Amino acid sequence: MHWTKRIAACALPLCLGVATLAIGQAASASTDKASLRDWWKNAVIMEIYPRSFQDSNGDGIGDLNGITQRLDYLKSLGVDAIWLTPIYPSPQVDFGYDISDYQGIAPEYGTMADFDKLMAEANKRHIRVIMDMVMNHSSDKHKWFLESRASKKNPYRNWYVWKDGKGQTATDKGDVPNNWRSDFGGTAWEWDATTRQYWYHKFYTEQPDFNWNNPKVHQAFKDIIAFWLKKGVAGFRFDAITTLFEDPQWRDDDPVLDKSGQPVKGPDGLVELNDTRTNNLPEVHDVMQEMRASADKGFKPSSYPGTRVFIGETYLPNIAELAKQYGTAENPEFHLPMDTQILGINKMDAVAFRAKLNDVETGIGNNVPLLVFDNHDNPRIDARYGDGVHNEDIERVLATVLLASKGTALFYFGDELGMKTTPPERKEDVKDPVGRRMWPFYKGRDGERTPMQWDDSANAGFTTGTPWLPVPPTYTTVNAKAEEGKPDSLLTWYQKLIELKKTHAAFAEGNNLMLDQDNANVLSWLRQTHDGKQVLVSCNFTADAQTVNLSGGGVKRATAKTLLKSPGGSDPASLNSVQLPPFGVWIGEVE
Ligand code: NOJ
Repeated sequence: MHWTKRIAACALPLCLGVATLAIGQAASASTDKASLRDWWKNAVIMEIYPRSFQDSNGDGIGDLNGITQRLDYLKSLGVDAIWLTPIYPSPQVDFGYDISDYQGIAPEYGTMADFDKLMAEANKRHIRVIMDMVMNHSSDKHKWFLESRASKKNPYRNWYVWKDGKGQTATDKGDVPNNWRSDFGGTAWEWDATTRQYWYHKFYTEQPDFNWNNPKVHQAFKDIIAFWLKKGVAGFRFDAITTLFEDPQWRDDDPVLDKSGQPVKGPDGLVELNDTRTNNLPEVHDVMQEMRASADKGFKPSSYPGTRVFIGETYLPNIAELAKQYGTAENPEFHLPMDTQILGINKMDAVAFRAKLNDVETGIGNNVPLLVFDNHDNPRIDARYGDGVHNEDIERVLATVLLASKGTALFYFGDELGMKTTPPERKEDVKDPVGRRMWPFYKGRDGERTPMQWDDSANAGFTTGTPWLPVPPTYTTVNAKAEEGKPDSLLTWYQKLIELKKTHAAFAEGNNLMLDQDNANVLSWLRQTHDGKQVLVSCNFTADAQTVNLSGGGVKRATAKTLLKSPGGSDPASLNSVQLPPFGVWIGEVE
């Protein structure tokens, strides 16, 4: 299931519903080559939406120099890498996901010199930079598409997906070639009056899909990837990667049926379709193997500070499909395909979370999971999981599942502060086109893209100008300055979890071994080093206080030393009786 289906579902009323720690590289990783190479294996990555992170020139739009100014904040938080959503030149119809030049920097974000400075300053702080790589489509203003639509004989014609209309004649454009739907609503076909054919776009009309059956497209992207690798980036997050190919027979998609066999209608009033003809076709694996082989070839790990990682935007129906995205030892694909299974749970359900963590334990071999709960396409955690009373405690629970379980953790900027989803109130204020199109059922993605809340000064310290999206009123209390150094703040909780992840061997190397598996209210698990050191994590998924018995099930002793606990929590005298406040968390080392 792609993300738009989930967000559309979530837009329905049912869903609405200390001192800075000195952490980071120096304290954690040794500088031997192997650990540098494997930096990504137990890493913490923050997704930055550059437009909303920090404005440095007063135009109301975040920029690269703004990110550079805030690197010390990221360092004190302990992040290993930042993934920047697209910063390339773009008409910004889809806020950067419509790229018009893959080897440049959007002027509103800065210059290539600003980018080089960001890289150098990030490097000084051992923070790696990961770029977004959009291979499914470009902007309709990209020179390749302008050429492609210029004439049927143009050498770039075959770089994109073109098709005659159904029943097309010399005078009549006919009907769209088939029923394929854009993820942003409506048909996926757009008529070009000059060359009299339709172009295919999985996303906005202004985002024509590349034709991945054309070897020239493959070569173009290998060159683009090499260009950025040579600049020293630490890897890529591959956008919409499962949708590169379309059914070669152009067959219609089938309708989604409800339990009684009736077609299901989406928020736009149209019958929903299973996009099996345009999503997750097997050829995507061949492309990723090819891209990976090309990227790995020129970059010997020994001569570079670490592996260049491939992260995938992989919305897939089950763990078996996710497992395939890693490829094999001989033909690797992604280092870290996103586990969006866990992202899609959308309710505080200990049983569902346990099932997903067990899936990760058993379903992807020795590969590294990349857990992700949140991003710029989904309402923030408060809107999907909050109960309106315990939101901060709930955010603490989810941060714990993210950062104290096995694998690499990816979180969205501002989650560490508990930033709230703040959707626009009036249609005329909506910036994300899909929000205008589907208003009021779905208000678009502006609500999760509001500016970073740095402090309680005007515009939350984000800009001296007029912010491109309004700063939510919560900024007076929910902001980095107010939370820094406060023992009970969410920010401190993130810092402490990240510090544990980096410094405690059980968090670095231990598997997740689920405990107390019949408990429907509390999710508990054990992490263990190869030489037997054990750490326990217990998260209360309910609004009632809970007591759990964590002894047995492989736990070696009856007592444990508290490493971290929620505000109001206590230190258990015995593992027979661990008490957790509503949505409380306890982490302890068995001794
Ligand atoms: C996924 C991105 O995360 C989203 O923001 C974008 O609109 C689509 N892909 C299309 O590129």
